[in-house]
Amino acid sequence: MKPIITVVGSIHMDFYIHLPKLPKEDETVVGYEFKMYPGGKGANQAVAAARLGAKVFFIGRVGSDFLGPMLLENLRSNNVDVSYLTVDQSTHTGVAFILLNSRGENMIAVAPGTDSRVSPDDVDKALPAVKSSQALLLQLEIPMETVVYAARRAWEARSMVVLNPAPARPLPDEAYRYIYAMTPNRVELAMLTQSNFTQNMGLIEVARMARVLVDRGVRCVIVTLGKGGALAVTQDDALHIPAFEVSPVVDTTGAGDVFTAALTVALAEGKSLADACVFANAAAAIKITRFGAQATPTRMEVEELIASRRADVKKLK
Ligand code: RIB
Repeated sequence: MKPIITVVGSIHMDFYIHLPKLPKEDETVVGYEFKMYPGGKGANQAVAAARLGAKVFFIGRVGSDFLGPMLLENLRSNNVDVSYLTVDQSTHTGVAFILLNSRGENMIAVAPGTDSRVSPDDVDKALPAVKSSQALLLQLEIPMETVVYAARRAWEARSMVVLNPAPARPLPDEAYRYIYAMTPNRVELAMLTQSNFTQNMGLIEVARMARVLVDRGVRCVIVTLGKGGALAVTQDDALHIPAFEVSPVVDTTGAGDVFTAALTVALAEGKSLADACVFANAAAAIKITRFGAQATPTRMEVEELIASRRADVKKLK
């Protein structure tokens, strides 16, 4: 059965410059070329989930400038339901400036524009969608008040709430109990748990930090580890799911978005946590071989990658 997922979140036009290397502070680096791609963590997750087979509603805002209609049309052409998307004349559509080096690594600066106007009222208007969904998917590029309100309304409706806590900022205590699954990377996890982040942190240490969020009320914390795969931590278990190796890696922008969307689709379909993480790892692996945050794979591409390689899920002692 096709799962129904509502995404409440950001939507941007991404302005990319490809460069040989990322600039340091006060440095100018001359790049190769400029490109525009649809983006925004919320919209990226909506498109990724729709391509993986979910029926998706998107709740968000665009401006009445030239970018708004382009982004709206992009969601429509990806089969995302935009009945609850608002055109807001008060400010500009959200934009992101993305610098991308030849290893696929990036620096991102966002001007949120209409993202910052997404309100609890928008969620109320879309309650029929929220209530009919198996899952609600959230990120942190819209006001925190709206994130917590949407999470509460979905939790009350017994819909599974999944939060991608990016860009990381502190969450009010109340929010944790509404969240079923959370997908921080290690930097976001360290921020949320007020721990120090070090590059060489071992899996046991990462699992210990993730368990702090489980103790606050989150049922599963899935830490994305880039090339290291993912670590799924619950009250009883800590599972390491290795990444699928792919090449060439051209653009890691949006890898966390496709991971979160794929995980949500798989969990909403009733897959086990381990199988959902394998599915999410495969979707993220394919994404990083393509340019643009929404260059996300179809269901068939993900299933083919999984069928072609073994993913050895290991339980941490
Ligand atoms: O996660 C990637 C996204 O972050 C980009 O698409 C950009 O718009 C920013 O929101």
